Amino acid sequence: MKLVFVTFLVACYAATGAIEVFTAGGNFRQNKNEILNSHKFKPSRQNVKSALPDLLTLSSELGLKAFYLLVHRAGLDAMLRGKGYWTVFAPTSSAFDRLPQNIKASLQDPEVLNRILLYHIVPKVLKSDSLQNNKVITTANNRTVRANVYQNQEAGQDKVTAINGSPVYKEDQLAENGVLHVVDKVLFPLTTGTALQYLTQHMAMYSQTLKLLEAAGVENTLNDTTAHTFMVPTNAALEKLDPAQLRHLMNDSGTASQIMKRHILQDVIFYVGFYDNEKVKTLGDNSEELTVLVGPGGLEVNGNGTFSRMVIADVPVTNGVVHVVDTLLYKP
Ligand SMILES: *[C@@H]1O[C@H](CO)[C@@H](O)[C@H](O)[C@H]1NC(C)=O
Ligand SMILES: *[C@@H]1O[C@H](CO)[C@@H](O)[C@H](O)[C@H]1NC(C)=O
Ligand SMILES: *[C@@H]1O[C@H](CO)[C@@H](O)[C@H](O)[C@H]1NC(C)=O
Ligand SMILES: *[C@@H]1O[C@H](CO)[C@@H](O)[C@H](O)[C@H]1NC(C)=O
Repeated sequence: MKLVFVTFLVACYAATGAIEVFTAGGNFRQNKNEILNSHKFKPSRQNVKSALPDLLTLSSELGLKAFYLLVHRAGLDAMLRGKGYWTVFAPTSSAFDRLPQNIKASLQDPEVLNRILLYHIVPKVLKSDSLQNNKVITTANNRTVRANVYQNQEAGQDKVTAINGSPVYKEDQLAENGVLHVVDKVLFPLTTGTALQYLTQHMAMYSQTLKLLEAAGVENTLNDTTAHTFMVPTNAALEKLDPAQLRHLMNDSGTASQIMKRHILQDVIFYVGFYDNEKVKTLGDNSEELTVLVGPGGLEVNGNGTFSRMVIADVPVTNGVVHVVDTLLYKP
């Protein structure tokens, strides 16, 4: 499983010239506004217990065919049909379609399938009004997902609620044994640890980055419980610098700290929460701000004239989210 994921990341990274922003859990729809402006279904049924279907039947009634079939294949029917109080984040069939081919193939492994599906199920009822910004929710397999509510979208757009960055498409679909929210991205990958642990698990891509973080003395911030957005440059991003410049940085903790803190945003912002021309506050000196540029070519941040492109978005970590970027926001 891990191997599949690493391979996938490397494949994504190799594709940095591509137009779309790759996300670790499959691409977004081409048009982000499709999601942001999607009409939220009002629950069509009154809350009359006897009239409500069970969660699995409900998923079928909502046309979530891929989810329904996968639950069946994983043998989780009894759980979602039986008595209980569950919250299900059920991906659309289109979300399963948009998974990268190798991840789709890995769903053939019953153990992997089971783990991924249980990551979409929470052993208590959480209606949309309790999905507050930054709420950390423990799933049926004792992992965590994070809810975010993004308010400040461009004019004319609704707020969007996201689970690990996966936008909620239809909320509060009621069942006899819980509530179902339709999400538009499969919740993948699963959170395995802090941002620092994620980087150390993928040493081949981040060994230099880790050295620089250490030199800067900000390693602990990436391994802390306080949640942030970590814009992480890869080894390849650092190799774009003049070697002498990089050596100097590694030996100058003051400057290194100033630069690396500029890559950490104060708030947890998954891809869906960014909008064009947004100013985001960093942990840099005086809460130095970056400007976000969202265009058809993907997402870039402008750090005072240095542009850095997001090449992998939305790696969920226990202390926020990691986005991989292709350039160090270095300002001499
Ligand atoms: C759930 O995960 C937490 C944190 O990783 C751990 O401390 C706890 O023992 C786990 N509980 C179960 C039932 O596995
Ligand atoms: C990160 O924190 C955990 C405990 O919270 C600790 O076990 C670990 O050694 C720390 N450092 C790294 C590099 O993971
Ligand atoms: C590192 O910094 C120290 C003192 O600030 C200096 O003596 C040394 O030459 C520097 N090393 C490199 C490789 O720049
Ligand atoms: C941008 O760079 C200029 C010139 O180096 C500096 O005066 C200014 O403070 C910088 N702005 C930010 C937000 O860092």
